[in-house]
Amino acid sequence: MRKLQTLLWMIWRRDPLLSFFLLQKIGAWLVPKYRFNWPQLAWWDDNEFNAYLKRFDELDSNNADRHWMLAQLMRLVSEVPGDTAECGVFKGASSYLICQGNQKAKVRRIHHMFDSFSGLSEPSLRDGDFWSGGDLACSLDEVRANLAEFGEDAVRFYEGWIPDRFSEVSDRRFSFVHIDVDLFEPTRDSLAFFYPRMHVGGIILCDDYGFTTCPGATAACDEYLQDRPESMIGLSCGGGFLIKKGPQPQ
Ligand SMILES: C[S@@+](CC[C@H](N)C(=O)[O-])C[C@H]1O[C@@H](n2cnc3c(N)ncnc32)[C@H](O)[C@@H]1O
Repeated sequence: MRKLQTLLWMIWRRDPLLSFFLLQKIGAWLVPKYRFNWPQLAWWDDNEFNAYLKRFDELDSNNADRHWMLAQLMRLVSEVPGDTAECGVFKGASSYLICQGNQKAKVRRIHHMFDSFSGLSEPSLRDGDFWSGGDLACSLDEVRANLAEFGEDAVRFYEGWIPDRFSEVSDRRFSFVHIDVDLFEPTRDSLAFFYPRMHVGGIILCDDYGFTTCPGATAACDEYLQDRPESMIGLSCGGGFLIKKGPQPQ
């Protein structure tokens, strides 16, 4: 009886570990293959990062761990020369982190953003049926406002279908490129353009790699890297990245 009382008291007080174990039991019943993480992760209490998530309405989303990972990978390239780019910008949440990373980098950089700003292009046969053309649209004006604090010298916007406007940065070299377009064709075209322009030690991160909802993006990465020295490192939170090996780009 006393044990039951203690248990009820702990449930009522929402004891963190007990609540977690209850959640895990309910989760195992509702979604058996769902993998829970230990809840004692220090980054969950990072005030600055939580303020960033809140600002982009991502505090309760399923994207927080991938955003955290992106910020960490930006630290890894802090000394690599070259600009940064994002293919697939949506509201600018990831670009915001990239611009923050650029401010802390030991080299001066410009961040280039490519997006239709009218949502996804039409999925191909390689993409399955999760996505539809026009999904995830966000206007250029909204993104400009979200990134205004970084100043006009630090960012460039290229509105249009990938790869139509890549030629405008063909003379630039890159330290970090984030590819997040969900689909086979624009992922393939982004890799084909940016990979040869990456400095050694630079990182290409593909947000969609390894998601069953994005089979085309995963295939585009694996096929492109088939006869190259790098391979994608798949992240447990979803997404994958490569670190560019030599030689240096021309
Ligand atoms: C998942 S969202 C990007 C999310 C963003 N990286 C973030 O962190 O919030 C995908 C974006 O890719 C863009 N997109 C998809 N296919 C495209 C294409 N073929 N050309 C240009 N933009 C495209 C969409 O407009 C959308 O903004």
